Amino acid sequence: MTTAPARHATPAAWHRRMASSDLDEVLALEVAAYSFPWSRGNFIDSLAAGYLAWVRHDEQQQLLAYCIAQPGYQETHLLNLTVAPALQRRGHGRALLLDLADWARQRGDAALWLEVRQSNTAGRALYAASGFVEVGLRRGYYPDVHQRREDAVVMRLALRPGAEATIAGHALD
Ligand SMILES: CC(C)(COP(=O)(O)OP(=O)(O)OC[C@H]1O[C@@H](n2cnc3c(N)ncnc32)[C@H](O)[C@@H]1OP(=O)(O)O)[C@@H](O)C(=O)NCCC(=O)NCCS
Repeated sequence: MTTAPARHATPAAWHRRMASSDLDEVLALEVAAYSFPWSRGNFIDSLAAGYLAWVRHDEQQQLLAYCIAQPGYQETHLLNLTVAPALQRRGHGRALLLDLADWARQRGDAALWLEVRQSNTAGRALYAASGFVEVGLRRGYYPDVHQRREDAVVMRLALRPGAEATIAGHALD
């Protein structure tokens, strides 16, 4: 949870904990960013479960980006990272991701995990540039057009030395 400028703040952008009063704005951005967006219920459930949820704003209080992550035993799972379509490629995704990695490291996690659509070149490039490694595939994980399904690439960021051994048994399917 960050109330002051985040450690990886880009100029004039901050994040703070997401509240239920943010959801109208978050939903509008979610629908603009994805063909298969999360529902309001997905966000409400995440907040109710106490997941990490941050919103990132500029000085005019415009919503730039947000993320949701599920803390688990010795690892955290990134569930949603979204930057406003018109404001992508300005470092907001990387800033949130780096602060999330710092947060997870500080709570003692061995690794940060995520799934990303195989076709999501921007997401995969961001995660690879941030040190994530592709470790597997989940077949048909995502809905796709025409009743099809798309595979997810499973990626992992090791957060401390020895993390490989600690999480070697993590099930991918
Ligand atoms: C994926 C996403 C979060 C990236 O956030 P962003 O703020 O646009 O990315 P950043 O500006 O922080 O990029 C950091 C690095 O990631 C890589 N990257 C990001 N977008 C890229 C793209 N479109 N093509 C290639 N590389 C890209 C680059 O290495 C970039 O560094 P550089 O700009 O110095 O070259 C954003 O594009 C987004 O919200 N997409 C729609 C939702 C989504 O797919 N979320 C991820 C779901 S798993």
